[in-house]
Amino acid sequence: MITVIGYDGSPLPAEARERLAEAALVVGGARHLAAVPVPDGARRVVLGDVAAALDEIDKAGADARVAVVASGDPGFFGIVRALRERGHRPRVLPALSSAARAFARAGLPWDDALVVSAHGRELRRAVNACRAHPKVAVLTAPGAGPAELARELFPQTPRTFVVCENLGEPDERVVHVRPAEATTRPWRDPNVVLVLDPSRTVGDKRWIAGAPPGPAGWALPEEVFDHRDSMVTKAEVRAFALAKLGPRVGDMVWDVGAGSGSVAVECARFGAAVVAVERDAASCERIRANVRAHGVKVAVSRGEAPAVLEHLPDPDAVFVGGGGPEVVRACASRALRCVVVALAAVERVRPSLDALTAEGFTAQAVQLQANRLSPLPGDVHRLAAANPVFVVWGEREPTPAVSFPDDRAERRPQTIAELPDEDDPRSAQ
Ligand SMILES: C[S@@+](CC[C@H](N)C(=O)[O-])C[C@H]1O[C@@H](n2cnc3c(N)ncnc32)[C@H](O)[C@@H]1O
Repeated sequence: MITVIGYDGSPLPAEARERLAEAALVVGGARHLAAVPVPDGARRVVLGDVAAALDEIDKAGADARVAVVASGDPGFFGIVRALRERGHRPRVLPALSSAARAFARAGLPWDDALVVSAHGRELRRAVNACRAHPKVAVLTAPGAGPAELARELFPQTPRTFVVCENLGEPDERVVHVRPAEATTRPWRDPNVVLVLDPSRTVGDKRWIAGAPPGPAGWALPEEVFDHRDSMVTKAEVRAFALAKLGPRVGDMVWDVGAGSGSVAVECARFGAAVVAVERDAASCERIRANVRAHGVKVAVSRGEAPAVLEHLPDPDAVFVGGGGPEVVRACASRALRCVVVALAAVERVRPSLDALTAEGFTAQAVQLQANRLSPLPGDVHRLAAANPVFVVWGEREPTPAVSFPDDRAERRPQTIAELPDEDDPRSAQ
């Protein structure tokens, strides 16, 4: 008995008007209730506090005729999720999503775009997605809108903004603006912001919408990174470090003491926003070359850790490839999820564990040592030993233990429907 009606400024379709006309309870934002024909006898609940509005719907009972009016496509970052979570099975009459309309206004395809929401969620993840991805639509909220986005992105991330206010409404406004200007202008709600890298507004043809699938492989060989004197994290150690870092879209990762930037580049390939921190000017150039060669985005911050870290956005995960206990401590005090430290000296293990534990991480360590097969004359091989490396890592929420219930007694054999006999005339095409 619940109908969810999407509103995008267009005249409502006949079925939506009928459902509204017979509704005893109409729920919607003040803007939406003012825009649609609510019958005189119907009770109105203004959607501000979503939980309170859902309580009213529950109280109305299963037989009550309820209409919920919500913006755009209510199945997309909208009220349909909350209704289903409460056990309702609403009929949904969607309108055009604000994201679809925004890209239409910009005249751009959007199957290669990310759509992220800062509406009732932290802005940080949306900002990190914009840092890493060339085409993002941000659903905003008051206090997490174009100005706040621009302040986070400017000047390190060159982007243009298409701010789409009141889409579909008579006072619709679409403004193309540079982030520097967006920081100071007043903006009207509701709005969607397209955050675009002007050089990559039309991406490659895709088979999957949204975030691209992760890389086909990782822990790339050292040879695909320009490096000096073998100063590159070896592939086996990088594989382990990446597994612990878990870089993904929406994350900020620091690679501190980045050297060749191999860890930074690999994290960026997973869709994370990445900053490589390195004090040596020549190494910074090498990192930039590696970043270009791999076609990813990594910000390079030249300077001495820990001082240089102060100005960086909070990281979800940090890889410390260089720097002493003071650097590990500084990283641990800022990292939200995990810190991974690669060490050659055994004496550094204890202080690193202590630094992580002191900041509330659960810390562990392992020594990794790989022996690669190396060909010798005569079609035989020797083991070429790489230097052992200690990896110390700390996690705020260690992987929970998984229990496997012994459900063997309850298991029933699976019944698989029989395939039709090929000679059976009923299976003839
Ligand atoms: C909870 S989300 C709902 C999204 C909605 N389901 C849709 O498909 O557009 C709310 C956000 O959608 C965006 N939005 C909704 N209506 C809009 C409009 N008319 N013009 C611009 N943005 C709008 C704003 O970013 C707003 O903060």
